[in-house]
Amino acid sequence: MNHLIDVQGLHSFYGESHVLRGIDFHVSPVETIGLMGRNGMGKSTLLKSVMGLVKPRRGVVNIKGKNMTGHSPYQISNLGIAYVPEGRGIFGNLSVKENLIMAARSGTQGQMDWTYERVMETFPRLAERLNHGGQQLSGGEQQMLTIGRALMTNPDVLILDEATEGLAPLIAKEIWKICSLVRESGMSSIIVDKNWQHVTQITNRNLVLVKGEVVLEATSEQLQQNPQLITPYLGV
Ligand SMILES: Nc1ncnc2c1ncn2[C@@H]1O[C@H](COP(=O)(O)OP(=O)(O)O)[C@@H](O)[C@H]1O
Ligand SMILES: [Mg+2]
Repeated sequence: MNHLIDVQGLHSFYGESHVLRGIDFHVSPVETIGLMGRNGMGKSTLLKSVMGLVKPRRGVVNIKGKNMTGHSPYQISNLGIAYVPEGRGIFGNLSVKENLIMAARSGTQGQMDWTYERVMETFPRLAERLNHGGQQLSGGEQQMLTIGRALMTNPDVLILDEATEGLAPLIAKEIWKICSLVRESGMSSIIVDKNWQHVTQITNRNLVLVKGEVVLEATSEQLQQNPQLITPYLGV
């Protein structure tokens, strides 16, 4: 079994509030997964439970065959899992260049595919803003910087939680293009996004959460051919 991430029977709570109710979920090498569902269904909590930011009460989080349940975000990230949370979280008082350089490291297999130079080529907008402080960037540029910073760690899995949320359509389009490049580079990823049409253009397999349970798992092809499978679970 060579899953990069393998979650089994996961239950997570906030206090008495039972948010994840027995989630099974895995990510294999070279696989791009879409995670969808309305607001408040538990998508971010699932990602935080994988990253060690929320301690699951029951169930197991295996990373590359190691039981990492309850381990720290630092230990999880060292196994090659990069997480770009909802909302941005850049170092506002560092320049674009400093934000990127600080994150640089080789991957778990020694891979150095994503260098500073490659990130600059991939995000020409950032290249124009190298000496700007993080605070001076637009929302879209901040999002590109957080993704660029995650790529600089040369992860095996890139997790993007609502990366296009609140961005102008043109900027969102650039983010989607970057998701394609990441996929083509052979890196696995988990993409959380509201726009299932965009998501399924990038992903292989998709999961939909309703109230902390997986209610649908389907390939992107299945969803594109049968939108009625997914539309009842999305929108308002
Ligand atoms: N830090 C928290 N404390 C308490 N409840 C939370 C917290 N974060 C999220 N929740 C609740 O957990 C549920 C799932 O939230 P979340 O995982 O953020 O959903 P999604 O990412 O799908 O929008 C929601 O009911 C939300 O209000
Ligand atoms: Mg969320």
